[in-house]
Amino acid sequence: MSSYIIEGGNKLEGEINVSGSKNASLPIMAASILSGKTTTLYNVPNIYDTKTTQKILQLLGCRVNKKNGKIIINSKDIKSQEIPDEQMRKMRSSVVLAGALIGRFKNAIFSYPGGCDIGSRPIDLHLKGFQKLGINIEEDGGIIKCSCDKIIGNNIHLDFPSVGATENIILASVFAEGETIITNAAMEPEIVDLQNFLNKMGAKVKGAGTNVIKITGVKNLKDVSYNVMPDRIEAGTLLCMAAITGGEVLVNNVKIEHINPVIHKLEEAGAKILLDKNKIAIKSPKRLKAVDIKTMPYPGFPTDLQSIFASMLSVAKGSSMVVENIFENRYKYVNELRRMGAKITVEGKVAIIKGVRKLTSAQVNSTDLRGGAAMCTAALAAKGESTINNIEYILRGYENLDKKLTKLGAKIKLQQI
Ligand code: EPZ
Repeated sequence: MSSYIIEGGNKLEGEINVSGSKNASLPIMAASILSGKTTTLYNVPNIYDTKTTQKILQLLGCRVNKKNGKIIINSKDIKSQEIPDEQMRKMRSSVVLAGALIGRFKNAIFSYPGGCDIGSRPIDLHLKGFQKLGINIEEDGGIIKCSCDKIIGNNIHLDFPSVGATENIILASVFAEGETIITNAAMEPEIVDLQNFLNKMGAKVKGAGTNVIKITGVKNLKDVSYNVMPDRIEAGTLLCMAAITGGEVLVNNVKIEHINPVIHKLEEAGAKILLDKNKIAIKSPKRLKAVDIKTMPYPGFPTDLQSIFASMLSVAKGSSMVVENIFENRYKYVNELRRMGAKITVEGKVAIIKGVRKLTSAQVNSTDLRGGAAMCTAALAAKGESTINNIEYILRGYENLDKKLTKLGAKIKLQQI
């Protein structure tokens, strides 16, 4: 078990670069399966989840090399279309490898994905989408077998704009006969990045970023080099961490339009924000004001920043209301935050935060990736030494968080037992 030891009470100050996006890298790495050729990726963060994806690609038969900050994947000699259950359980996005395997081989065997425990997280929309493309699905003892003779483009309407289902259907239909149209598609920037990557490789995908995506099947793809987009959730996390400490930080390598709702809410809470191309400067007051947030699919307020924002609001002046509309179990961190003196009540989707003047240091657990980041946010402001346990969750999704915070003046140590 690894922990972060944080001595709170120091203002964050200085300049920091955001890493490449986890949630864009994972489907793009999966998509490298489609070409049977060489994919060179830049800006992939070095985190547990990208390492797990790399491991699965290697188990399937890809050759993967990492050098000088780039990852080179050659998918020519894939021998297996079966994703081992042990790997499937490690993270949710292992499921998008299925779409890529189906797209290339018309065949994939996999089990239900694991990942952060933030809700029931079914994959029914992914499987319904595959069926609409003419793929047969058999399920036995939790093992799902997908196969077909041909993939035929179709119109697919999603009951909910699921990010993973949208990505999986795109991947499975890149070589389909004819045209696939996804309506009520997810509009997240990571899907635009996947589209840009696929098109650079020779695919024909249009409309990502809107709720209608059109994929025209192609016959083959080519070698590609691609630079993954910056991580909008890491950018938002660093801004909230700066804000809770009353700090002044310049966050570099951000696509400002990707985190508009977060910028607006930070301003509403009293932070001064300056925007310049791909940089965001934040200057925070001594004490923030309470604000209300509701999580929504993009371009709404991101669920992935709900816990971190709530942690920041736990010391704001007044009462804030948080409504979590995407996942039904994304308040597990609240019990841990209460140990630090936060006053939060939760009923169903709604959390009411009564801002306290100060948090106290404590020993707390990371309950999931963003829940763990929320604990770090609180610990940065709490006087004294806090220990955040189970940071394996945090290491799944944040690259060098301790080093980045140290650069900004925080006192944080990584302890590995
Ligand atoms: C992606 O997860 C992200 N993960 C999540 O990031 C993020 O929280 C989520 O999108 C929402 O923005 C990656 O991109 C790797 P969904 P995903 O399918 O694709 C329901 C993080 O912290 N649903 O859009 O799994 C589901 O239960 C994380 O980085 C179905 O009902 O999310 C949920 O309520 C964790 N049936 C809602 O849709 C399905 O078949 C949104 O899920 C699929 C989803």
